[in-house]
Amino acid sequence: MATFKEAPEGASTAQQASVWLENRFPTAFEAYRVHLSEYYAPKNFNFWYFFGSLALLVLVIQIVTGIFLVMHYKPDAALAFASVEYIMRDVPWGWLVRYMHSTGASAFFVVVYLHMFRGMLYGSYRKPRELVWIFGCMIFLVLMGEAFFGYLLPWGQMSYWGAQVIVNLFAAVPFIGEDLALLIRGDFVVSDATLNRFFAFHVIALPLVLLGLVVAHLLALHDVGSNNPDGIEIKAKKDATGKPLDGIPFHPYYTVHDIMGVSVFLFLFSAVIFLAPEMGGYFLEYNNFIPADPLKTPLHIAPVWYFTPYYSMLRATTDPMVNVFAALVALGTVGALLKLRLPSKGKIAVAVAGLVAVVLLKTFDAKFWGVVVMGGAVVIMFALPWLDHSPARSIRYRPGWHKVMYGIFVVNMFVLGYLGIQPPSDIGTLVAQVGTVFYFGFFVLMPIWSQIGEFKPVPDRVTFQPH
Ligand code: HEM
Repeated sequence: MATFKEAPEGASTAQQASVWLENRFPTAFEAYRVHLSEYYAPKNFNFWYFFGSLALLVLVIQIVTGIFLVMHYKPDAALAFASVEYIMRDVPWGWLVRYMHSTGASAFFVVVYLHMFRGMLYGSYRKPRELVWIFGCMIFLVLMGEAFFGYLLPWGQMSYWGAQVIVNLFAAVPFIGEDLALLIRGDFVVSDATLNRFFAFHVIALPLVLLGLVVAHLLALHDVGSNNPDGIEIKAKKDATGKPLDGIPFHPYYTVHDIMGVSVFLFLFSAVIFLAPEMGGYFLEYNNFIPADPLKTPLHIAPVWYFTPYYSMLRATTDPMVNVFAALVALGTVGALLKLRLPSKGKIAVAVAGLVAVVLLKTFDAKFWGVVVMGGAVVIMFALPWLDHSPARSIRYRPGWHKVMYGIFVVNMFVLGYLGIQPPSDIGTLVAQVGTVFYFGFFVLMPIWSQIGEFKPVPDRVTFQPH
C-alpha cells in the first residue's frame, strides 16, 4: 500500500478531510490533476471550443430529464400517446421536463454539428488525434440511433410513420432485407413490440454506449492533448518544468471560460423552450400531436431536421442516379489506372474492384443503393484523418479557395437539409443529386484537392491576443 499522507500542522477541517479522502481514494485526486488542474490546454481556444463542453451539458440535461420522463411515460402502444399528454398537462412541471428533452434533442445535434465542423476547420482529426475523431464519429452514429428510437416513443403519427419508412428501408438490403426488417420491428408492421424494443434501446442500451464512448473520446483526447485554431502542436515547445509554453491549466482557466458558453447556450435554450418549443414544426412536428393511426398514412412524411440532409441523399438515389454513380466509378477506375503508378498486380486489383462495383450497382435496386448512400455519408467521415493531405492542419494557413470549399460544404448541407423536409419534386431531386455528388466528391477527392493551392507559413507558436 502507498504511504499515507499527513495533514500539515494547523490544517483546517476541510484540508484534513481532503487528506483523509486522498489517502483512501488517490485515483480520484490523480484524475483531477491529470484531467483538470494539470491538463494543459492551448491558450488560444476560441468560441468554437465551447461546443465540446456544451455537448457534455446537453448529454446531462437529456439523461436527467429522461429519467423524470420515464417516471410517467408508459411504453405501451395503447397508452404511450396519452401518457405523454398526461406529462404535458397533469404532471407538475411535466411540460417543462418534456420540452427540455425534446428541445435538448435538437440542441444536441446543433451543438454536435458545430463541434464536428470545428474539427474539420482546424484539422483536429489529424495525427495524433485520429482516435479522438473516430470515437466522435461513433458517438454521432449512436446519437442518430438514440434520436431515432426516442422519436417513436410519443406514438404520434410522425413517430409511427417515420419509423415505418426507416425500418422498411432495411427491407431493401439484398437477400436478408425482409428478415432484417422483421427482426428490427419484432412484427410485420411497426407495433407494440417495436415500441417496447425501441424504448429499451432508447432508455438504457444506447445511453450506456454513448456514455462509454464519451469517456473514451475524452480519455483519448487527454492522452494526445487538444488541438487549437492554429493547428500547432503546443507540446513541441515546453518550459524547463516540462509544461507547454502555450498551454494553460484547464481548471480554473477553461472551466471558468466555459461558463460564458454555457450562459449563452442556456439563454437560447430557454428562449426556445419557453417561446417556441415546437420551433415552427422543426423540433416537434405538428403531425406528431395526432395519435398514431396505422390505417391513415400522413400525406407527407419527413424526418426531423437533423436527419434531413441524409434523407435527401437517400431520396436522390434514383435509377438514373445509380447510372451516374456507375459512370463515376468507371471514370475513377480509369483515372486510377492511368494516374497511379501501380505494379501490375495492383492495376489488376483496381480494374477488378471497379468492374465489380459497376456490376453490383447495376444489379441491385436503387432503393438499396439509397440506403448505402445514406449510411455511407456518415461512414465516410471515419476516413477523414486519412483523406486530408493538406500541408497545413488549420484552415487559417490554407489557401483561400479551401475556405470556399468548406463554405460550399456547409451551404450544401443546408440545401440538402431543406430539400429533405420538402415533398419530393423534379427540380428538388435534381438539386439533391448534385448536392450528393458534391458531398461525396468533397471527401473522395480530398487527397487531391487538399494539397492544391498556396499555403501560408505556419508559425512556431500559437497566435494569441490577451483579452
Ligand atoms: C456527445 C457528444 C460529444 C461530446 C460530449 C464531446 C465532448 C468533447 C469535449 C468535451 C472535447 C474537448 C473540448 C473541445 O475541444 O471542444 C471534445 C473534443 C473533440 N471532439 Fe468531441 N464530443 C462529442 C461528439 C463528437 C463528435 C460527433 C465528433 C466528430 C465526429 C467529435 C470530435 C472531437 C474532436 C476532433 C475533438 C478534439 C478537438 C481539438 O482538440 O481541436 N466529438 N469533444
